[in-house]
Amino acid sequence: MRERRPWAVALAACLALDGAVPLAWRADVLQEQPQLYQPVRSSGGIVASQDGLASAVGAQVLRQGGNAVDAAVATSFALAVTHPQAGNLGGGGFLVLWLPGPSRAGRPGCGAEAAAAEQRLGRGVAVAVNFRESAPRRASSGLFLDARGGVDRELATRSLRSTAVPGTVAGLGLVQRCYGRLSLAQVLAPAIALADQGLVVGPDLAASLALARPLLDRDPTSRSLFLGGTGRPPAAGSRWRQPQLARTLRGIAAAGEAGFYQGPVADQLVRLMRQGSGLIEHRDLSSYRARLVKPLLGQLRGGHAVLTMPPPGGGVTLLQLLHILEPMQLERLGLNGAATIHRMAEAMNLAYRDRNHWLADPDQITVPTATLISQAHAAEQRARLQLDRHRPAAELASQPLLLPDNPNTTHLSVVDRQGGLVATTTTLNFAYGNGISVPGAGFLLNNQMDDFTAKPGSPNAYGLVQGEANAIAPGRRPLSSMTPTLVMRPSGEPWLATGSPGGSRIITTVLQVILNRLVHGLNLATAVATPRIHSQLWPDQVSLEPGISPDTQQLLGSMGHRLVAVPAMGSANSVEWLGDAQGSLGVADPRKGGAAAVAESPP
Ligand code: GLY
Repeated sequence: MRERRPWAVALAACLALDGAVPLAWRADVLQEQPQLYQPVRSSGGIVASQDGLASAVGAQVLRQGGNAVDAAVATSFALAVTHPQAGNLGGGGFLVLWLPGPSRAGRPGCGAEAAAAEQRLGRGVAVAVNFRESAPRRASSGLFLDARGGVDRELATRSLRSTAVPGTVAGLGLVQRCYGRLSLAQVLAPAIALADQGLVVGPDLAASLALARPLLDRDPTSRSLFLGGTGRPPAAGSRWRQPQLARTLRGIAAAGEAGFYQGPVADQLVRLMRQGSGLIEHRDLSSYRARLVKPLLGQLRGGHAVLTMPPPGGGVTLLQLLHILEPMQLERLGLNGAATIHRMAEAMNLAYRDRNHWLADPDQITVPTATLISQAHAAEQRARLQLDRHRPAAELASQPLLLPDNPNTTHLSVVDRQGGLVATTTTLNFAYGNGISVPGAGFLLNNQMDDFTAKPGSPNAYGLVQGEANAIAPGRRPLSSMTPTLVMRPSGEPWLATGSPGGSRIITTVLQVILNRLVHGLNLATAVATPRIHSQLWPDQVSLEPGISPDTQQLLGSMGHRLVAVPAMGSANSVEWLGDAQGSLGVADPRKGGAAAVAESPP
């Protein structure tokens, strides 16, 4: 049920006169008005992902009676086939879900962990899944240092040593077993069919493979998988089959996680590691576990609850930003006005400073999460923020840095007929990971080890200058910016699922989708499409997407900001639940190819 009522509209209109419209109402009031873009609507659920074929797989699973988890898992496995630049078996990720109904702790294989991790919210339960890759046992802090003590960037990003123990298959298996309705074999079937029978290559995939050709050409297995006999990637319009990947997927359907972490796939992966500088051994694979964890919970003005990913995910920084910005009346200052962008950029710098210093894998390092997301800390940070002048990064901390990059990750959001929500973000780190594929198994490996601090003070590929807490250590999971997030209505009903790829820009992308929807009152599609900005302390600059006006930029420049024009950032595929009667809304971010596929059958 939507909570908009006539008295709420009238009250909101009155409050608008002095610009102080509470968050909860402004969103619903403005939602009624026609806006630039429209989300798709469905009564049977929606899957929004970065690839149309994969979204269609998820929607089909919803039509077959699967819930949001079944659809998210089916879509994720399909992305491993249709979107090899980021969809994956060889990477890792995070997932946040809310499902109606009782605890699932009684299910086989979920027990005590589910009971400890689940959060009862309204008429359902919320839980998060950590399937971030982990450092192999033989990894140590100086892994990527060269003879002169510098960071060997090639080793950190393009070698077998850059690969951390993959988590995706364990994560998808765990969440499907504990929270799905269908069997693993049922949700894997469409991905197997796509790999076996082949898919017709679309223009986006053809362009992406062509761009990655130099990387894929360096590895003989990737060359044969992605560039075929000709040395050229499959052309747009041609059919592309992946029989080795189909065999691996069939093994997982038959044996569950053991089909990946043990047996022939594990043997092939370990053999490859031994041929090069890789560190992953059988015991790393067989002992890898995805974990159910309590989602991080923040309360916003107006009563909305934000459920997001705890460390090593990006949720702490997202909540910090929301708490710093909430009382600053951005709705009054205006969407993407100079004063709004200035406040957002300065808050981002303060929050990223904390991120880089404090955040790490909480299983190995004590992270002061409660302090960082407290209102008291947000108030302290807000007091540091100068309203008329940019505070240079060097005043906040004193490290040099910078590096460009080619980040690639992928996010999908699902809503089902009952309001079940799933937000999940997975990654190989770079597009196509380290470019190296496992012989005979048909999938690419991640280069996630670069998300650790290779050397304090030295930037990683995203320009993030991170601290000792995130140093490489056996079994540790590297700090991530991935921030799959749900927002619940003040009534306790589910509302919004969002998230994004984009490396260090993920957190600020999610922030702006939420602010655009809740504070500026844009509908879901317009909230996602609106130009975004990003700042992360180092480099000391604000990145602006196209569409921020020249006079706004001039004002920001006069406050001391160095502005950098960047291409589109992120791909915030998002969905919203309106209620039993109204159904749901969804949008694929127009920045990237993708689709929001609806589950009901056409009339
Ligand atoms: N690999 C990018 C991230 O996890 O933040």
